[in-house]
Amino acid sequence: MPVDTWFPLAVYYEDLPDAAQHKDDLLAAVLQLEAAAIAPRNFPEMAWTGDLHGVHQIHTDPRFRWLVTQVETHVLHYLTQLGIDLTKVELYIQRAWPVVSRHQQEVGIHQHNTAHVSAVYYLSVPASGSDLSGCLAFIDDVRMNEVSPGLGSENTDLMAKWTPLNQDQALYSPVEGRLILFPAKQRHGVTLNHSEEIRVSVSFDIVLTAAADSAAGAYEFLTPPPALWQRFSQPSR
Ligand SMILES: [Fe+2]
Repeated sequence: MPVDTWFPLAVYYEDLPDAAQHKDDLLAAVLQLEAAAIAPRNFPEMAWTGDLHGVHQIHTDPRFRWLVTQVETHVLHYLTQLGIDLTKVELYIQRAWPVVSRHQQEVGIHQHNTAHVSAVYYLSVPASGSDLSGCLAFIDDVRMNEVSPGLGSENTDLMAKWTPLNQDQALYSPVEGRLILFPAKQRHGVTLNHSEEIRVSVSFDIVLTAAADSAAGAYEFLTPPPALWQRFSQPSR
């Protein structure tokens, strides 16, 4: 008998056609930024992430211009597919940073609370097998079909089989040259890199605001564009 499913999470992805010709220059730029950054603040089992090391504005770095343009293009496609009227919003790259995951490193489960859309680009993926080099894992916090809370926990051991109707996470193996977009509030992490090679990705956080000439009332529900903000005239500290 039929079972309808509703309210899907929309994860967008595109394999960028010019990825190969940009790889070497981008990889060199990332590794240079990592080497020049402040002393490592990550635990040994955690991947090196630029945002924890002062490397969070690569969108302003000319070496990343091609990638920034790609992100902008595909975010517009993504938001169009989500049904958003692009004439009523302004879009900003808020932060962008590289992530370098070495042998047995991962990225813990998190969400990007200060942004609206997040992007990740796989710049360099170990050739020894992408499944082994760290998957992007989206965590289902809503659990629409968990008819009794905690039903699938290890303590109940009640699930006879895992199906698309009860899965609690979705895994994306990294594909070199692929760009993935998803809602920034969606919790996610990156599983362990079991390979001996480095896995390098670049993350972007994008913010939507109301357009500068928005109709009255819009700013109550959608952040006004930063050009309309005013910093305090007196220092806050
Ligand atoms: Fe993330």
